[in-house]
Amino acid sequence: MRADSIPDDFTPDLRRLKSWPSMKHSPWRQPYLADLTFGEIQRLVDEFVPGQSLKILDVGCGRGYLSLELAREGHDVLGIDSDQKMIILAKKTMDTDPYKSERGPLNYLVQDFTEWREPDYKFDLVIFSRTLHHIPKPGRALGKAHRLLRIGGRIICIEYAFDRFDHRSATWFYHVRKVLEQPGWYKTARKLHKDASSSVKQILEEWMGLARKEHFNRSQGMLRPLRRLFQERHFSWEPYIYWDMIMDMRVPSPDTELALARSLIAMEGALIDSGAISPVLFCFVGDKTGAKITSVSD
Ligand SMILES: C[S@@+](CC[C@H](N)C(=O)[O-])C[C@H]1O[C@@H](n2cnc3c(N)ncnc32)[C@H](O)[C@@H]1O
Repeated sequence: MRADSIPDDFTPDLRRLKSWPSMKHSPWRQPYLADLTFGEIQRLVDEFVPGQSLKILDVGCGRGYLSLELAREGHDVLGIDSDQKMIILAKKTMDTDPYKSERGPLNYLVQDFTEWREPDYKFDLVIFSRTLHHIPKPGRALGKAHRLLRIGGRIICIEYAFDRFDHRSATWFYHVRKVLEQPGWYKTARKLHKDASSSVKQILEEWMGLARKEHFNRSQGMLRPLRRLFQERHFSWEPYIYWDMIMDMRVPSPDTELALARSLIAMEGALIDSGAISPVLFCFVGDKTGAKITSVSD
């Protein structure tokens, strides 16, 4: 992950978006890019929140933008993350929230989910938003999420499935990148090979290499236990490759950048629907039934 310089006034809040140009490698650098990435995740989660005033656990809440929105909707939210820096920012954002007085309860905890001592109460909803692929032994983590839910409770899991990125996805990435490079609208330290087929191979190898280096979980390692433990209510593949494109896009005109970002999302969605590329982000929604579950292995 490339280091960005985070400005003192950075507030990861979808309702207080502004331009933070020093956050070059993050969608937070422009309000419309944050809305088209983190905002999209928040809207997707919202579609499946099963009621009002719920007790919600946001596992790996990061900087807390999602927990904050859920609390503003009136839910009682606990966000936990193993990275103290994330929680410091989440708390700062929570404390300066202009909607504080109308919000539901919101709490944050610095905690590794796998080591967290299970509380003596249950949640109505557990969310993993782009977190489960980081957690070793995802089956065990999902078993814990299952125990933390009341019967009838719900899990929403929006996850990166790196191993689905394939030659066709890399070819699309290559062509978008080449088009954006022509006017100088794509900047990255990683130079491509001279010919197209070696470049596509390089993009594919870089993509897989990073995921392997970080020991991300493979898609089936997450999906198998999800389907074993929970009654599936929804499954979809969502656009996500555009996040990577947006990170390295450098378009001087915000209007043009917004139009291009929107068209990349639309294109990725259409290519997923037509089967022309392999998607890398899934949304699984499932409910905990009263059925007895034996062990789930990783
Ligand atoms: C890609 S970020 C996603 C953050 C946020 N959920 C979002 O959608 O923007 C993954 C987060 O998971 C956290 N994380 C990774 N492993 C964890 C663990 N075992 N327990 C708690 N948090 C974890 C990381 O610190 C990081 O903030």
